[in-house]
Amino acid sequence: MNLSDLDPGKIPRHIAIILDGNGRWAKQRGLIRQQGHKAGADNVETVADMMIAAGIPYMTVYAFSTENWKRSQEEVSYLMGLMRWYLKNYIKTALRKGIRLRFLGDASRLDQELQKLIIHAEEVTKDMPNLTLSFAINYGGRDEILRAVRKVSRDVADGKLDEKDIDETVFSSYLDTKGLPDPDLMIRTSGEERISNFLLWQLAYSELYFTDVYWPDFSEEDLEKAIRSYAARDRRFGGRKK
Ligand code: IPE
Ligand code: IPE
Ligand code: MG
Repeated sequence: MNLSDLDPGKIPRHIAIILDGNGRWAKQRGLIRQQGHKAGADNVETVADMMIAAGIPYMTVYAFSTENWKRSQEEVSYLMGLMRWYLKNYIKTALRKGIRLRFLGDASRLDQELQKLIIHAEEVTKDMPNLTLSFAINYGGRDEILRAVRKVSRDVADGKLDEKDIDETVFSSYLDTKGLPDPDLMIRTSGEERISNFLLWQLAYSELYFTDVYWPDFSEEDLEKAIRSYAARDRRFGGRKK
């Protein structure tokens, strides 16, 4: 990907992705949904490498939503197994490539092994400098905000936080994304044009980009198109055009 013609200030620093269409990708090929999820997981790794090559320091992917428990037990348990397997293998790769791993969402509902892997992965990769790759697992934007509100209330009750000090910066520090900049660009694949409970607070001023491509097919060319679309936009944040 050659972005050297773009003003560096026009390249997004944080790209969040709703990776969608794994099931339809599989169906289109006469495969089972699980094979779509496997291909989708492989593509997360491929796209992370593209981010590093493009000099984009933050990537966040929506891997499993708080609503995805509604799927069949078979599909849910395959997805959990895939995440365990993938993460176990990926930690070494992340260390080699300088990738910091983070997790967003309520881990308490995940199995013990996955919870332990998450804690371990975050700990051992915490100083990695090239890319912060965050996985949203059992993540819902509303759930995240409610969990933050409970923590804020507890700190107020305990006298650790004064109610009048709760501003946007303080509140943000109670969210799972603490320390991450808000996404500049949010990409959703597979033709669906909705947020599906992803990063509700953090996407307040993100640019949105939708593509019909199914996630396992999302290529370097598709990423470049999304970045170029972003670069051509005028972000006003409520102000006036310069
Ligand atoms: C996205 O692919 C992956 C997850 C939500 C876990 P889907 O499984 O939603 O694929 P489609 O939307 O059925 O094609
Ligand atoms: C959103 O995709 C969640 C993830 C990508 C993890 P879904 O496929 O679950 O979303 P809906 O149901 O089409 O809104
Ligand atoms: Mg879907």
